[in-house]
Amino acid sequence: MKAIAVLTSGGDAPGMNAAVRAIVRKAIYHGMKIYGIEDGYQGLIEDHIKEMDLASVGDIIHRGGTVLRSARCLEFKTVEGREKGIKNLEKYGINGVIVIGGDGSFAGAQKLAEMGINAIGIPGTIDNDLGYTKYTIGFDTALNTVLDAVSRVRDTSSSHNRVNVIEVMGRNCGDIALFTGIAGGAESIVIPEIKFDIDHICERLLHGVKRGKRHSIIMLAEGIMEAKKFGEALEARTGLETRVTILGHTQRGGSPTAFDRVMATRMGAAAVDLLMADESNRVIGYDGAEIYDMDIHEALAIKHQTREDLYELAKILAI
Ligand code: ADP
Ligand code: F6P
Repeated sequence: MKAIAVLTSGGDAPGMNAAVRAIVRKAIYHGMKIYGIEDGYQGLIEDHIKEMDLASVGDIIHRGGTVLRSARCLEFKTVEGREKGIKNLEKYGINGVIVIGGDGSFAGAQKLAEMGINAIGIPGTIDNDLGYTKYTIGFDTALNTVLDAVSRVRDTSSSHNRVNVIEVMGRNCGDIALFTGIAGGAESIVIPEIKFDIDHICERLLHGVKRGKRHSIIMLAEGIMEAKKFGEALEARTGLETRVTILGHTQRGGSPTAFDRVMATRMGAAAVDLLMADESNRVIGYDGAEIYDMDIHEALAIKHQTREDLYELAKILAI
């Protein structure tokens, strides 16, 4: 009988629990022993490892966050740290590990594979910043959470004839701002991948007011500039009353959407299949229809492509 383990690492994402549930139940179905490693790579080093059974993943498919908890762990970037982790895996006879996380977590999985442990990665991050897959677990849920906020802000924005800047997450990736900008009918979308011109944004705002718009929404990806300063700059240049909303970690929580649950479930099952086939150093992806897998090294080399066509479309429609 094979023994395998699962951990969640890096920023958590809604839908991670659905993947954990699928992994645990599928592994048990195939007669494997399945362990949960709590607190990511930190827990691997510190032996936060427990055997999972069918009941330990009951009632979690609809819950945000991760029941295995997550952590960022500098020690795992050192050989000594990883050796401690490997010793713990050997203690339980674990020869395969499924890592749910982003590109940093995948780099850790790659190191595990180099040290003789079969390692498989599942993309879990709301940022959607991995180039090899069209979707990551949590992205769709985050979009819906942001959209709900955009609708609320739009209500009050139109009552007061205001401009509203909404800052969303995404680190170096503007997908959350771009897709919610489209779905929410934003007047402008500001993302790190595409240079912006504040004068042009102001011109568009004033043009909108002239043709009778009662509110304007600007989606701003985090890290571009301080949202408050951005709002102040717009107000100073246009004379339009402006408010700023930073959605922050609300975007990371909440019950996962059906899309995320189904995708995460399929990804978890596919990862178990790979370990059963004695595969290692692979990551799971989703192209919008089918689940597939590829070499981690090749996957990490693929740069995320920004949908500039969608950006241009949003601009046309907000005329
Ligand atoms: P994400 O997986 O969301 O990109 P991080 O970049 O914070 O998040 O990475 C999560 C964890 O993965 C890190 O805290 C560290 O434990 C591990 N990790 C990241 N890079 C490496 C690496 N080069 N070698 C080993 N482990 C790594
Ligand atoms: O999960 C991704 C992400 O939310 C980024 O968009 C953000 O910059 C970062 O993680 C913040 O995470 P934390 O507060 O956990 O460091």
